[in-house]
Amino acid sequence: MEIKSNVSLLPYNTFGIDVKCRSFVDVQSVDEFLELQSNKVFQDNQRLILGGGSNLLFTKDFDGLVVKNTMMGIEIVKDEKTYVLVKANAGVVWHEFVLWCIEKGFAGVENLSLIPGQVGASPMQNIGAYGVEIKDVCASVEAIHLLTGERVTFTNNECAFGYRESVFKHKYAGEFMITSVTFCLTKEPHFKIDYGDIKQTLADMQVFDLTLKAVSDAVIKIRSSKLPNPKVLGNAGSFFKNPVVSHQKAEELLNRNPVMPNYPVQDGVKIPAGWLIEQCGWKGKVVGHTGAHKSQALVLVNYGNATGNEIYQLALDIKQSVLDKFGVEINPEVNVV
Ligand code: FAD
Ligand code: EPU
Repeated sequence: MEIKSNVSLLPYNTFGIDVKCRSFVDVQSVDEFLELQSNKVFQDNQRLILGGGSNLLFTKDFDGLVVKNTMMGIEIVKDEKTYVLVKANAGVVWHEFVLWCIEKGFAGVENLSLIPGQVGASPMQNIGAYGVEIKDVCASVEAIHLLTGERVTFTNNECAFGYRESVFKHKYAGEFMITSVTFCLTKEPHFKIDYGDIKQTLADMQVFDLTLKAVSDAVIKIRSSKLPNPKVLGNAGSFFKNPVVSHQKAEELLNRNPVMPNYPVQDGVKIPAGWLIEQCGWKGKVVGHTGAHKSQALVLVNYGNATGNEIYQLALDIKQSVLDKFGVEINPEVNVV
C-alpha cells in the first residue's frame, strides 16, 4: 500500500474535473484499511472515500487523503432452493456485478444495469432505476468506522433507505467506509417491466420469452438512448433529485401545466426535475464549458475543460430558475466536494 502525494483526480471522477488531492491511497482489503488507520497521514488529514467517482463534483483541490476502495471479489454466502445471498466487495464495478448475477441466473438487480460506480457506493444513495432500488435486494451492509476501526453490519432496516437516501448519506455521513454489501437474490425471477419504456423496448427488440438478460439489454438500450456516456461527455447522471411536493402544490402546478408528468408517492407527488428544468429553457443550452444535456435536462455535462465551480454555478442558476418559475425547490443528488 503506497500513499502518494499531490495526485490528479482527473481519472477518478466521471465529470472529468481536473483537481488534485494532497494524498491518495488505494485500499485493496480490510486488512490494508486497518493498517492505513494507524498511519499518520490517515489520522492527520480529512478523508474522502472514493468509489468510481460517478456521483461527485469536485469544486476545488481536496486538501486531504483520498481513499480509493478497490476491494474485489464476489462470493455466494448462502445457497437455498429459491434464493441466494451474495456478498460483493466494495470495489467491484456495479455493472460487472449485475452481469455476474445475470450469468448465474440470480434475479433482482437486472433493472439496475449500466449504473456507473462501484458496489460500495450503491447503498450510499440507495441507487435506483426502472422501478428497482438497492433497498429491494440489500440484505446487509458491512462497514468499518473510520476512527474507531469498529466493524459494523447494518441490516436493511438499519440502513434507513429512502429515495436517494440512506443512513450513510446523512446520520453517519463521512463516518464509515463500506467494505461489502450482501444481496438477497431470487432464483425464480419476478420481472419488473411495467416501468417506463421497458415493455415497449422489449417488444421493439422482439423479445417473446422474458429472461434476465433480455430485461437487462432493454434497460441498457433505454439508458444509452438518453444518458450521455461519461467516457465521451463528462457527467454524473442526474444532477438533482426529483422533488416531492404536497398534493396541494401538485394540484396547483397541474392547473397551470396540465401536461406536467407526476407520480404519486408515499409522502406527496414526485415531479420529474428534468421536466421542470426543460420548461425553464435549459435543455440543450450550452453555458461556457458546461450545460444541460440535449436529451435529458437533468444531466449537467462537461463539454471539456469545465471547472467544478462552473458546473456548480450552472446548477445554482438552474435551481433558482425552477424556484422562480414553479415555486419548487430542487436539490442536488450529486455530492459536491
Ligand atoms: P462515488 O462517486 O465514488 O462516491 C459517491 C459517494 O459515496 C461519495 O460521497 C463517496 O465518498 C461515497 N462512497 C463511495 N464509496 C464508498 C464506500 N465504499 N464507503 C463509504 N462511502 C463511499 N444513480 C442512480 O441511483 N441511478 C441511476 O440510474 C444512475 N445513473 C447514472 C448514470 C450516469 C451516466 C452517471 C454518471 C451516474 C449515474 N448515477 C445513477 C449516479 C452514480 O452512478 C451512483 O450514485 C453510484 O452509486 C456512485 O458510485 P461510485 O462508486 O461512482 O461513487
Ligand atoms: N423529462 C422531460 N425533460 C427532460 C428529462 C425528462 O420532460 O429533459 C420527463 C420525461 O419525459 C419523463 C420524466 O421526465 O416524463 C422522467 O424522465 P426519465 O424517465 O428520464 O427519468 P428521471 O426521473 O429523469 C430518474 C432517475 C434516474 C434513473 C431514471 C430511470 C432521479 C433523480 N433520476 O430519472 O437516475 O435512471 O429515473 O429510473 O431519480 C441518477 O440518479 O443519476 C439517474 C440517472
